[in-house]
Amino acid sequence: MAARRNGKRKKRNTAAIILVSLLFILVTAVIVLLGYLVSNGRTIRDFMEGSAFMPSRSEEAAPADPAQSGGTENGDPESHAGAEIESDPEAGAEDPEEDVPEEERYYFEEGQLHRGDLILVNGEYPYSFTDNQASDLVYIRGVKTVDYALAKDDLMASRHAVSFLDVMIRDCTSAIGEDSTGVTEAFRTYEYQDELYAEIEEEYGEEYAKDYVASPGYSEHHTGLAFDLGVYYGSYADSFTGSANAEWINENAQYYGFIRRYREDKTDITGISGETWHYRYVGVPHSIVMELNDLCLEEYIDRMREYTQQNPLKVSFSSAHYEVFYTAKDWIRIPEGTFTVSGNNVDGYIVTVRTDLT
Ligand code: DAL
Ligand code: ZN
Repeated sequence: MAARRNGKRKKRNTAAIILVSLLFILVTAVIVLLGYLVSNGRTIRDFMEGSAFMPSRSEEAAPADPAQSGGTENGDPESHAGAEIESDPEAGAEDPEEDVPEEERYYFEEGQLHRGDLILVNGEYPYSFTDNQASDLVYIRGVKTVDYALAKDDLMASRHAVSFLDVMIRDCTSAIGEDSTGVTEAFRTYEYQDELYAEIEEEYGEEYAKDYVASPGYSEHHTGLAFDLGVYYGSYADSFTGSANAEWINENAQYYGFIRRYREDKTDITGISGETWHYRYVGVPHSIVMELNDLCLEEYIDRMREYTQQNPLKVSFSSAHYEVFYTAKDWIRIPEGTFTVSGNNVDGYIVTVRTDLT
């Protein structure tokens, strides 16, 4: 009898142990799964908030020794917080010309001063139609890969800028859950800008026209790199202000190479009143550095003059590392890595060297 009771108790104990073990395994699995999801979520959010890229520069950088120039500290939100562009006049020293043999030089193309993603076009620096006609100007309708509205069928823009616009609008649509973002204006000819200015002046007065419309020849829209965005619900619904898409794009444009060009607090510098709808393509990492350091394009172009090939601005973003520098010469020492050159449309060139991190 007692033996049978003992046997039953043993069975019950074994069953309880199995049950507790199963519960333990289940709870552990849930914890592991939740941990995975949370850590993944944080990685993505951190990336979007910028801790994965770290514009920084060494304050002690010695002009003669590039090895000592500032690096980046990926993944450290604290150092991100202090990632400002520092003024360091000593860093302005360049290679003595005689130290760079001809075969190690890359000479810029003629007219390059007025071409590229970083050209500054404002009331002081006109667009150079002769040297700087956007070489990849295309009809947006013909090349866009994402379904969004165009206010006019014949809107044109720079092809590569459209490809980034496409991705930005696609991501905006999936983030806000509606495909209401569209383009109202893009490339404008001199004649178009002239007519537009006259129309706005007639309708709203000279003061308003000056505040919101660039004089013909001085508009970023001539570059093919500027887009005015709008909200569409079947038809054009009004300006890009306060809507979910305006907010999302305002927050995220930098990750796609765009800047909101005319912010209210920069009106004194840009000469144009706040425009929530006007976005300019400048490319990554420039858009990110501008955003992180609260610089408008005029200020960025100014600051870039402090960075030389020996002491470049160093930025890591996503899976790439960038070194950015300015030169007033018409050549550079051929850098390691792929590089692009943009004139600043004022007095020199900005070179962006990219190295992919694997
Ligand atoms: N609205 C901008 C300033 C332009 O006319 O180019
Ligand atoms: Zn515009």
